Amino acid sequence: MFLKNYWYVGAYSDEVTREPMGRVLLGEPVVLFRTRDGKAVALEDRCAHRLLPLSMGKVIGDVIQCHYHALEFDDTGACVRIPGQERIPPQMKVKSYPVVERDNCVFVWMGEAGDADESEAPEFFGMLFQDGWSVTKVHCHVQGHYQLVIDNLLDLSHLATVHASTVGSMHVANLADVETERDGDRVKVSRWTMDVPAARTYRQFGNYDSNIDRWQISEFMPPSYFRINNGSAAAGTGARQGKGEKRWDFWVCHGITPSTEDSTHYFWHLGHRLWTDDMDEVNEFYEQCHNVVGEDIAVFEAQQRNINVDPDAPMVDIGYDAGPLLARRIIDRLLKEEAAARPGRAA
Ligand code: FES
Ligand SMILES: [Fe+2]
Repeated sequence: MFLKNYWYVGAYSDEVTREPMGRVLLGEPVVLFRTRDGKAVALEDRCAHRLLPLSMGKVIGDVIQCHYHALEFDDTGACVRIPGQERIPPQMKVKSYPVVERDNCVFVWMGEAGDADESEAPEFFGMLFQDGWSVTKVHCHVQGHYQLVIDNLLDLSHLATVHASTVGSMHVANLADVETERDGDRVKVSRWTMDVPAARTYRQFGNYDSNIDRWQISEFMPPSYFRINNGSAAAGTGARQGKGEKRWDFWVCHGITPSTEDSTHYFWHLGHRLWTDDMDEVNEFYEQCHNVVGEDIAVFEAQQRNINVDPDAPMVDIGYDAGPLLARRIIDRLLKEEAAARPGRAA
């Protein structure tokens, strides 16, 4: 079951080109490409003739030509040419998805096209693109259910073990002051770990030689977006009051787009104020962060393998699950509301 009436990240802007690209979003095959004037287009990636993925074909002018029998579809999904045949049956068409492009992301509306409201496409990725900032990004197709990713990002105690070699230490699990807040359907989990030794990444790039006060502020927005601020300052210098000596922080925006019931497109976008002009140092920071993403994905995929063995195996909760459980309840309620609003159409 997926929440349909939302904008989802379908691709990064630089992934969408004149070469068609196929991607399964919310259980639907979608092909993405650009017209001659650069407009991003999202169509059903399933030819109306014999169901070949249109992404195997090619873009000619502003239409996409199927690889099999050369039928051509325009950016509305209408078939505009059948070789050797004048008449085009009215049902010879593919679904067209509304698209909005902003902040280096191509957002695709997965609900009823008539319900799409461009103003509702998330804007918060834009905060990463500021003067004096630098960004890095990753897209991964994770073999795990999207809820596993949401659980992970609302309980950052896992840094203690999963990311122990870089951003984590046992202090973030043992000594954290954690607060879970709800604002409508948004969930915010704030973790403060005060006066502790800096984990490797913080020590190396925050340049600390003594203890730090450290924060991890994770905000969830339905259907599956996150904005997380991670940072630190020298211990006891006012970090919690927005001050602090040697403040060092970075933001990560996450677009989590369900692909199938057991796989997910994970768009991970990190941005920060440049603290040095030594790009070798910055790139080393990125390498550590990219490794962190890989460590999380290894966890999601191992969890999913166990879920596949026994989908009914129970999960027992702990205190740090307050945020993840709240997000699960919100998603469950929104799913029920969508199903009630469109009986028979829930995915
Ligand atoms: S399957 Fe696409 S043209 Fe025949
Ligand atoms: Fe993680």
